[in-house]
Amino acid sequence: MLNVMMIGDVVGDPGLAVLEQRLPGLVREHGADFVVVNGENAADGFGLTKETLDRILAAGADVVTSGNHVWEKRDFWPVLAAERRVLRPANYPGEAPGAGWLSVQKAEVTWLVLNLQGREYMTPIDCPFKSFDNITNIPTNTIVLVDFHAESTREKEALAYYLDGRVSLLAGTHTHVQTADERILPGGTAYITDLGMTGINDSIIGMDPKICLDRARNQVLYRMECAKAGPNGADSAVQGVIAEIDRESGRALSIKRIG
Ligand SMILES: [Fe+2]
Repeated sequence: MLNVMMIGDVVGDPGLAVLEQRLPGLVREHGADFVVVNGENAADGFGLTKETLDRILAAGADVVTSGNHVWEKRDFWPVLAAERRVLRPANYPGEAPGAGWLSVQKAEVTWLVLNLQGREYMTPIDCPFKSFDNITNIPTNTIVLVDFHAESTREKEALAYYLDGRVSLLAGTHTHVQTADERILPGGTAYITDLGMTGINDSIIGMDPKICLDRARNQVLYRMECAKAGPNGADSAVQGVIAEIDRESGRALSIKRIG
């Protein structure tokens, strides 16, 4: 049996702070053998920096995934190219810095972590379905984990059904709102439409509510800022899932929400 933890988008310094505070305890409590954290909003809400990546890895992530905001900080592009433990979506066309998937050994098994990005209501990039199929030679007995960074619930469920039985866990990210639809699909793939967010609860997707509200009402692109932490951090959450995976078959046995 293997326990896999996947954690939703870390939003800014408040998200990093609550991750550092709670992730080590969550890993211990759930006996997590492998931890994937989406960090695409770690640097002030937009993208990653070397420092924010290092903080997420030090907090206990084995692999850090991302999404459409990964390109925000250009200083980070060389880090993407050099550091294997951070991924950008695999289905960017052409020659983008970094890698979209990583194979790594831990707990006496081979893990393959794949980051994909959706196309519905998002930048029209390469097909995520074909991108998975293009990863050839996945050895048998590999535990495959997918972070599908996408807006559309329909597209997320479609990819999950497409990969059912071929991956152990497919988790959606990007909306920052945790869904209550975690389940095991017929072929044995654990699935949730969105892991949720790591950051401030009293917020609009982790950002300052007043600024987001002004943007929505006035349709002016005011610069968004992360929501501020309360006095004792009690208003913050680490959201994600913990799944039990059969070590031999790769089939998921359970999936539960965290947060
Ligand atoms: Fe995000």
